Amino acid sequence: MPKNGRHVRIAPSLLAADLLNLQKEIEMLTSAGADWIHLDIMDGHFVPNLSFGSDFVRHIRAVSSLPIDVHLMIAPTDAFIDQFAIAGASCLTIHPEAGYHTHRSLQKIKDHGIKAGLALNPGTPIQVVVSLLDMLDLVLIMTVNPGFGGQKFITSPLEKLKELRALIDAKNLPILIEVDGGINDQTAPDVLKAGADVLVVGNYIFSKDHPVSVQVYRSRIESLGKK
Ligand code: DX5
Ligand code: ZN
Repeated sequence: MPKNGRHVRIAPSLLAADLLNLQKEIEMLTSAGADWIHLDIMDGHFVPNLSFGSDFVRHIRAVSSLPIDVHLMIAPTDAFIDQFAIAGASCLTIHPEAGYHTHRSLQKIKDHGIKAGLALNPGTPIQVVVSLLDMLDLVLIMTVNPGFGGQKFITSPLEKLKELRALIDAKNLPILIEVDGGINDQTAPDVLKAGADVLVVGNYIFSKDHPVSVQVYRSRIESLGKK
């Protein structure tokens, strides 16, 4: 448990999972203590990569009761909110950089009765969040430029993270801070110390330098500070 006794949650990003054995991966991650499933949705427009559609959420929901934390790296966003919510997303996180009417997009998510999150690219200032605090259940601090797993951790967003932690604590807001990109056993301690509640982890969890097992997944999850 990190300082201040915050409960650390680990959200493996399936982008890095063995996609030909996804159900098995999800079952092993669940047994290994994963808290959420992070699903990166990429459209080849907002980010230079393509990944999954809302059918993936539907199939994952059919085999897992873990919260499905959907990270929408798509522009425009609004046209897809309904289908991801109906498919079973627990939380839909959008990028303010992807559209013009962020408040309306967040309202559209909340109208489905699910959690609403806002993801900030490394270059996006924390001020974007201030006028939307009453709409948010989660803020996702990107520590890589979105589009790919396995990238190098960018340290500058740590300042933004500390600022956001202080703001949320000062106002006693029910908002979780999630950090996404380049998280591993080396970078996690600084991220937790800066105030993160949820860590998204892709390549560090799924790297296949060991035969895949619940024990390997559990030891990697625990190496991130989750006790
Ligand atoms: C990047 C995604 C991240 C990524 C994390 O655009 O939003 O969730 O999959 O992967 P790692 O942990 O390998 O950086
Ligand atoms: Zn992500």
